[in-house]
Amino acid sequence: MQLRRQLPLAAGAIFLQLLLAASSHAHNITRILAGDPAFSTFNHYLSVTHLADEINSRTTITVCAVDNDAMSKFLAGRPSISTIKNVLALHVLLDYFGTKKLHQITNGTALAATLFQATGTAPGSSGFVNITDLKGGKVGLGPEDNDGTLGTYFLKSVDEVPYNISVIQISGILPSDVAAAPTPSPSELNLTSLMSAHGCKVFADTLLANPDAMKTYQDNAEGGLTVFCPLDDPFKAFLPKYKNLTAAGKTSFLEFLGVPMYLSMSMLKSNNGPMNTLATDGANKFDFTVQNDGEQVTLKTRLGTVRITGTLLDQQPLAGYSTDKVLLPKELFKADAAAPAPAPAESPKPSPKKKKSPSADVAADSPADSPGGSVADETADGSNGSNGSTRLGGGRVLLGLVALALWAGAFLI
Ligand SMILES: *[C@@H]1O[C@H](CO)[C@@H](O)[C@H](O)[C@H]1NC(C)=O
Ligand SMILES: *[C@@H]1O[C@H](CO)[C@@H](O)[C@H](O)[C@H]1NC(C)=O
Ligand SMILES: *[C@@H]1O[C@H](CO)[C@@H](O)[C@H](O)[C@H]1NC(C)=O
Ligand SMILES: *[C@@H]1O[C@H](CO)[C@@H](O)[C@H](O)[C@H]1NC(C)=O
Ligand SMILES: *[C@@H]1O[C@H](CO)[C@@H](O)[C@H](O)[C@H]1NC(C)=O
Ligand SMILES: *[C@@H]1O[C@H](CO)[C@@H](O)[C@H](O)[C@H]1NC(C)=O
Ligand SMILES: *[C@@H]1O[C@H](CO)[C@@H](O)[C@H](O)[C@H]1NC(C)=O
Ligand SMILES: *[C@@H]1O[C@H](CO)[C@@H](O)[C@H](O)[C@H]1NC(C)=O
Repeated sequence: MQLRRQLPLAAGAIFLQLLLAASSHAHNITRILAGDPAFSTFNHYLSVTHLADEINSRTTITVCAVDNDAMSKFLAGRPSISTIKNVLALHVLLDYFGTKKLHQITNGTALAATLFQATGTAPGSSGFVNITDLKGGKVGLGPEDNDGTLGTYFLKSVDEVPYNISVIQISGILPSDVAAAPTPSPSELNLTSLMSAHGCKVFADTLLANPDAMKTYQDNAEGGLTVFCPLDDPFKAFLPKYKNLTAAGKTSFLEFLGVPMYLSMSMLKSNNGPMNTLATDGANKFDFTVQNDGEQVTLKTRLGTVRITGTLLDQQPLAGYSTDKVLLPKELFKADAAAPAPAPAESPKPSPKKKKSPSADVAADSPADSPGGSVADETADGSNGSNGSTRLGGGRVLLGLVALALWAGAFLI
């Protein structure tokens, strides 16, 4: 009886949903929040600051909404509209955190890049939000620049459109002095210092010490560049193997971790397949395969698989991500000492031959004997690069090029 009466209703609801889905290609944060009057103030200020447009233009994001009570506490301090904009931009995380992911964060803690950080409004490396799974099923959130205090909590999911947008309610405004008191001039984004400040210092230092790779990165920064930075612990463990490479091999390796185009998290999530890198040069493919499984993006070569663990920077034309292991190019490393060197000219099919990797730190066991002795020598035309042709003047090469003064006007109201 009851079932029969509900069926037409359900059908109507589904029809309505289809209609809504058909009439709009992307999400509309204003409409999502309009469903609950408790968010009306937050919603109002997303529109006033034009953050709503920015949110609607992005996918794979999480909006941390607060209710009207929390907003009035924040507004009681009479913040300027640009301060409101910065603070609310800190509440837009550039990754998709559904309820499930919030409660199952790898190792219990993660740093999320935010719209505040990514748009270049945040000075230096501020503008990241720490999300930590706490005792009793609580999920704590806090700005990274807040002495590690996680005084704000996840309350409930408001809406989830996997993996485009997740809207959650948190217990209050994230208290950030930096967002509340922004520096007047738009600061330069410095990719290497962002890497250093967020767990990839060893990689950043290695990159800075290699002028040839730095030049390649720099040459690509304007047209689009995405960098996959291994976290410090795995990269430290990998350093002896890196040092064993010839100079040309070192440069190729560093260039292999950069892709000559801008790839947002949502682009990575929707683009499975082979990907050329900055090191790709004719027959020397130096490519890897992007493969994702739900919320997790992985990068693979036939030597192993690494996972993306965080976003360091996501602002067109630049993106930077941290990875849990070191992705090894098959052109420079062998799967193991006993195996024959891989044929470098093979086409990049999704390789099912995943070699067992006993090492937890590196994506694959690399050769015990002369890793530089493989293809690296051929690409290196004999020289080990210390005599390299392209040397950059001084050390001022840094990716401060990333100087996005461009953003000055773009993000102001
Ligand atoms: C997610 O976003 C893409 C790009 O805007 C859109 O084509 C797709 O329909 C969206 N998915 C859902 C479920 O809304
Ligand atoms: C989003 O929804 C609001 C309220 O329904 C509407 O006024 C606005 O025009 C929509 N924005 C877009 C970009 O569709
Ligand atoms: C998680 O913790 C383990 C053990 O402490 C560590 O080896 C691993 O690198 C961590 N993973 C991430 C993504 O931090
Ligand atoms: C997040 O904050 C907690 C508490 O201060 C800290 O233990 C944890 O290491 C932080 N997580 C990250 C990824 O920085
Ligand atoms: C580079 O070549 C020079 C001369 O052949 C050699 O002394 C030096 O050790 C090499 N450096 C590396 C890193 O292989
Ligand atoms: C570096 O190369 C030397 C000589 O080929 C080898 O003995 C050593 O095991 C290698 N070290 C690493 C970490 O691969
Ligand atoms: C660099 O290469 C040139 C020409 O091949 C050679 O004359 C010179 O000795 C090399 N310098 C070093 C430091 O290897
Ligand atoms: C970028 O950061 C590095 C330190 O990581 C610093 O040495 C360099 O001066 C910075 N570049 C710019 C342009 O600010």
